[in-house]
Amino acid sequence: QMQSVTNSHSEQPTGGLHFVGKKDDLVAAKRSFRTLEDRDVLIVSHEGVFYALDSYCYHAGGKLDHGDIEEFDGKLCIICPKHKYKISLAKGECLSKAKDPSQDSALPRWYSKGVKQRTHLVTEINGDIYVKLSTEPGWLESDYYQGEKGKRTRAIA
Ligand code: FES
Repeated sequence: QMQSVTNSHSEQPTGGLHFVGKKDDLVAAKRSFRTLEDRDVLIVSHEGVFYALDSYCYHAGGKLDHGDIEEFDGKLCIICPKHKYKISLAKGECLSKAKDPSQDSALPRWYSKGVKQRTHLVTEINGDIYVKLSTEPGWLESDYYQGEKGKRTRAIA
């Protein structure tokens, strides 16, 4: 019987990490656009923390690059300039404010529409910043604007 041998050294700690710039430069730039493995990603530096997410809004492909950043319901969000959807930087959740229709007197409250925008991992190694693309399985709505069909749509968005 043959025995298969696996090479345990094949997995490198930097596997899948894309160098995106020097920390100081990215902090100064605040927003940086990068294309990694054909995916357009926005890297945001905000108050000492880095975030990375798909750069086209899941709703209709709006460009998030110039979106304002504000906190809603305790979550830091980027506001899509196009229709003002609020997308959490950490998780890509879309937050919305609405009244509960079953309660007449209820005040509007924030709720999450769920994770819609793909977010990516940012790592710092000795002053260099790397992004590892999300490997979260399944379809997220922002994936559409990274594919061929979505690319055509977003050109006119
Ligand atoms: Fe972003 Fe509509 S495209 S809110």
